Amino acid sequence: SLEGNLRPQSLDEYIGQQKTKDTLKIYIEAAKQRHDSLDHVLFYGPPGLGKTTLSAIIANEMGTHMKVTSGPAIEKPGEMAAILNNLQEGDVLFVDEIHRLNRQVEEVLYPAMEDFAIDIMIGKGASARSIRLDLPKFTLVGATTRAGLLSAPLRDRFGVTQRLEFYDKKELTTIILRSAQVLGVEIEPNGAAEIAKRSRGTPRLANRLLKRVRDFAQVKYNGVITYDVACFALDLLEVDQYGLDKTDRRILQTLILNFQGGPVGLETLAASIGEDSGTLEDVYEPYLLQTGFLNRTPRGRMASVLAYTHLGYPRPDLSTK
Ligand code: ADE
Repeated sequence: SLEGNLRPQSLDEYIGQQKTKDTLKIYIEAAKQRHDSLDHVLFYGPPGLGKTTLSAIIANEMGTHMKVTSGPAIEKPGEMAAILNNLQEGDVLFVDEIHRLNRQVEEVLYPAMEDFAIDIMIGKGASARSIRLDLPKFTLVGATTRAGLLSAPLRDRFGVTQRLEFYDKKELTTIILRSAQVLGVEIEPNGAAEIAKRSRGTPRLANRLLKRVRDFAQVKYNGVITYDVACFALDLLEVDQYGLDKTDRRILQTLILNFQGGPVGLETLAASIGEDSGTLEDVYEPYLLQTGFLNRTPRGRMASVLAYTHLGYPRPDLSTK
């Protein structure tokens, strides 16, 4: 797919996440020198920042293959055992949303990660016994929105843990210019910078917005993404100057209008905007917190003064809080 083509294949092609790249480079090099598999890696952070892409790059750089699954996709221990048993020496097993594995499935992973073995129960009742099945050495790459959602025994079995950060505007601009080149679309630097500014620090969103802006450029203009086309298209898409979308603004608006700006608990806020509280916390909040529109206090979530002014409400009287 085109989405796939936009993904960098090597660490050198990968833009941003400099600390994570430097760290992985060393570990990959060291493992290769020892002719060993890479230690298990946990990536955590908001969606769209490159967890899957980095996992695929690890497999590429190690010269092995990546198998992909996810926490919610595996329901039974036997399914996990089958996936593990089908791996080849050195393979990367990418488990997305790894915090959503159920307890019994997770327990299959403990000996698999630690000893490259699985224990299989044979028989029932008094005659039941377990036999140990050896696995090829593999690298588990886990991805989660928050490391704190993982159980301690699982978290402890990752040798490498890396937090992915939001990208700055310069990095996103470079990513968009690269993606435009891959897609064969002409783009002016100011056009790329405008899309970058409104991509909430997230390459996945930057690439999605680039494709939508390209459609406008193609149909309404002469195919070139200029600053003006980017602004026109992004305004129509209701992505504002700060990259906030309709849901972001609804969250802040609800806080301001229904709860006098807060503080209000996560569950209450989620219920009043009709979103799942986990989605609110893992998908929407990180960017609102990072950009200073939202504050987390011991008593709950609060809209900042910036949120009031950005949405066009009079400044709140904070002396009553
Ligand atoms: N496409 C999506 N994310 C990217 C990144 N970090 N570097 C280069 N291209 C990308």
